[in-house]
Amino acid sequence: MTKVLVIHGPNLNLLGTREPAIYGVTALAQVNQRIRQAAESLGIAVEIVQSNHEGELVEAIQKAPETADVIIINPAAYTHYSIAIRDALQAVRLPAVEVHLSNVYAREEFRHRSVTAGACCGQITGFGPESYVLALHAAKFLAKSDGTL
Ligand code: DQA
Repeated sequence: MTKVLVIHGPNLNLLGTREPAIYGVTALAQVNQRIRQAAESLGIAVEIVQSNHEGELVEAIQKAPETADVIIINPAAYTHYSIAIRDALQAVRLPAVEVHLSNVYAREEFRHRSVTAGACCGQITGFGPESYVLALHAAKFLAKSDGTL
């Protein structure tokens, strides 16, 4: 069974009430429920964590190889400037998928740059909570593949 660690970054604990016009009205608990349901039907064992702290996110990535085959990460604002998170993803060398709820390329210019995506196999952006479900499909593909497309 494929094992996936889903990591939610800062402010994603506020989903549901945070800028609903951009992020929707679905709370993080419901997003996680949707992730668990999709994981179950795909035969994926999923673990989900959220933190508002860069160091905790780095530690979660560092420990991921102990329990997971693939990382799905929404680094949230850290996407745009955390070299520490990029380096951690690079260091563990587990395949990773970057996820965003909103389409970061349709938003402010500073969100167009991801420093973390380069340490991931690919990025899924703009599909709301379904971005995570699409990432689970990508995770399943990555767990089976040898990295070549
Ligand atoms: C986000 C996009 C980021 O630019 C932003 O800082 C977030 C959420 C998204 O899921 O759309 O916090 O990662």
